[in-house]
Parts: sequence; C-alpha cells; structure tokens
Amino acid sequence: MRTIGPRKTAGKTATGRVVLGDKRVGAILAEALEVREEVDRYTHGFHTWPAGLHPDAARMLIDAFPGKSVGDPFMGGGTILVEAMAAGRFAFGRDVSRVSLRIAKARTSTAGEDVLTKMRSTARKLAAEAPQAKELPPDEILRSIQAWYEPHVLTELEHIRRGVFASEGPERPLLEAVFSSLLVKASFRKSDTSAKREPYHRPIGTTAVLFHKKARELGRRIAALREAVPPNTPAPDVARMDARRWTTPSPLDLVVTSPPYPSTYDYLPLQHLRRIWFGEVEEDAAEIGPRRDWREGARGAVSKWRNDTELWTAAVAKSLTRDGHLVVVIGDGLTPAGSIDTSDATEKAAAAAGMTSVARASVERADPGRDTTRWEHIFAFKNARS
Ligand SMILES: C[S@@+](CC[C@H](N)C(=O)[O-])C[C@H]1O[C@@H](n2cnc3c(N)ncnc32)[C@H](O)[C@@H]1O
Repeated sequence: MRTIGPRKTAGKTATGRVVLGDKRVGAILAEALEVREEVDRYTHGFHTWPAGLHPDAARMLIDAFPGKSVGDPFMGGGTILVEAMAAGRFAFGRDVSRVSLRIAKARTSTAGEDVLTKMRSTARKLAAEAPQAKELPPDEILRSIQAWYEPHVLTELEHIRRGVFASEGPERPLLEAVFSSLLVKASFRKSDTSAKREPYHRPIGTTAVLFHKKARELGRRIAALREAVPPNTPAPDVARMDARRWTTPSPLDLVVTSPPYPSTYDYLPLQHLRRIWFGEVEEDAAEIGPRRDWREGARGAVSKWRNDTELWTAAVAKSLTRDGHLVVVIGDGLTPAGSIDTSDATEKAAAAAGMTSVARASVERADPGRDTTRWEHIFAFKNARS
C-alpha cells in the first residue's frame, strides 16, 4: 500500500490518499480522482446532471484499457459514452432515468448538418413567437408546477413545449433536450440538486432567448463531437434499463461506470419539474441507494444497497469479454449517523462476480457542505472467469 497525505488539490484539500495494485493502472486511477480543470469539448456541459464524472477522468479511464467497446450501466448525462465515442469505441449506455436517457441521447448524437439546421430554425421560430404566447400549460401540468415559475415564463415555456412536441423529424429529440435544459434554470428552484425555492424576476422574453441560445449551443457541440469521432466508429446504443438487469447484445471489453453514491441523491425525484413538463412517470423504487432509503432506516438501507451492488456487478461481469475490465468510480455515503464505506461492498461484489482486482485508488477530501471528509474511490477489476 502506498499512502500519501495530506496534499492540496486545486481548491480542495485531499487529506489522505491510497493507491494499491498494478503501478501503471493505480497511477492512472489516482490521477483520474484528482482532475478538476474545466473542460469545454464536444457535448460536455450542455445539460446538467448531478454527480457527472469529469470528462478528463472518463477519457483517462477509457484510455487505460484496450478494446473496441465501452459500456456504462449508470450513464447519467452520458459523459463516459461521449468520451468512448471520441476514442473510436462502440458506446453502450443505460440508465433507469428517462431524463438521463433524453440527455444522453442528445449528448451522444452526431446528427448531420441538415438535422442541426432544422433544429436551429425550429428553435429560432419558437423563440420569436414565445414572448407573445398567451396559453398556459394544461391543468395536469399547471397544478404541479405553477408555484415554480413566473406567469410569463409559464406561457413562454408552454409555447416552446407545444412546438417541440409538434415537430416530427429527427430534430425532435434534440429540441426536447434543449427544452429540458431550461426547465430548472427558468424556475424558482435553486439548482438541480436543491429543491429550495428562490423566487426571482426573469424579464419577459429571456426564457425564449435562452431556448434559442441553447439550441445553437447544442448544434455547435454536436458538430464538434461528430468531427472528433474517428471514421467507422459504430453508432452508440443508448436506452433505459435497470442496471440490476443489465444485458448486452454482445460482450464488452470495458465497462466504466459511476453508480450512485449511497445516501447522496434522490436522482429520480430531483427531476420533478422535468418529468411533469414531459408528462413522464418514473419507477422511483428501481433507484439504487437513494437518500430517502436512509430516512426509513439505516440498517435496511445499507443491506438493500449492498444487495443491489451485488446484483448489478454480477450482471455486468457476465457481459464482459474473457479479458474484459470493469472500472467503478464511487464515493462513500455521508449520513448523520456516519459515513457508509463503499470500498468493502464494491470489492466483495466484484469478487463474488468472478473478477479480480487490478488496482485501486482512493482519495479523502474535505466535503465543503458538511463539516467532514469523504473518501472517493476508483477500482479496476479484471474478468477472471475462463
Ligand atoms: C453518479 S450518477 C452517473 C453519472 C454519470 N457518470 C455522468 O457522468 O453523468 C448515477 C446514475 O445512476 C442512475 N441509477 C440509479 N439507480 C439505477 C438503476 N437501478 N439502474 C440504472 N441506473 C440507475 C441514476 O439515474 C444516475 O444517473
């Protein structure tokens, strides 16, 4: 074991650091835990997603292992898939959330200029009309969201929603992602991860302008991704699936993933506003390790989370090629009753699924929101099944 600490990382204090196993891989895992530089490439940063992996970390982890394909059973906003595509790999992503699916689909799009032009022109037209719109959303939407928006923001958003849903071509999923990207920003919700209500005045027309701006941004970003993806890279395969039932049409060389940290977010309910605007029902019970489970009792929550960890790890192990690798990025859970260690459960689940450890890196950092520290880990496992 090599333990180093305490040390400074850009703005954050790492108070402890552990690197174990293969030296080359361990050094890469440790480096991936430390990256903090802002990046602005491809479709990264187009749409928020809580606890998104740093794109440079995703790139390093993919580059560390050979192969033609990369899977991610907890794709969230799709960071790992985007980097897999840019590395010329087949990207296979799944997530239980419908909102994640919409974002990841848009972020892995390499749509041609004809589609992007149609998307931009539809957005320009809707943005020009929206400030004059008078129609409020239908009752089933309005009653759940009225308290979250100023009245003129509601009419602007409703006009955009109708226009997006009326478009029938391949630009529609992209327009949906653009619409989705406005829904928290234009609301009184403090942020994607905080449901605190913070009313403020948003001048008339600025929501429509933002919609048009985001459509142009997505167009630019998709074009940049298309340019970066090497010729003959297979199209990505992105869909909705519960990770505990993960299956793939053919074996994968590499899975890089960041499952939910236990008791950290309620990923599905956090998307409250988006699911109402899109009229979607989510299967909240399928979410792994949500914070709300701990409110019902820590002991039951930990054993459910450990059990779910074993289920998805076993399913992923079965999908790997003979020499395939699994890389898991996870942080310990923080609860009022203390922290939840994720390393033991992750390592035991991998061993039970027939994998051996290649390397591991862990960093302990101060958690600015709480008066404590949190360990974050990256594990690399290799398929040991013959
Ligand atoms: C840490 S986030 C992944 C972030 C992602 N790596 C990124 O860069 O955006 C964890 C994800 O797990 C998803 N999730 C939770 N339970 C799940 C389940 N049972 N099956 C699949 N995905 C699940 C959440 O919706 C969330 O997107």
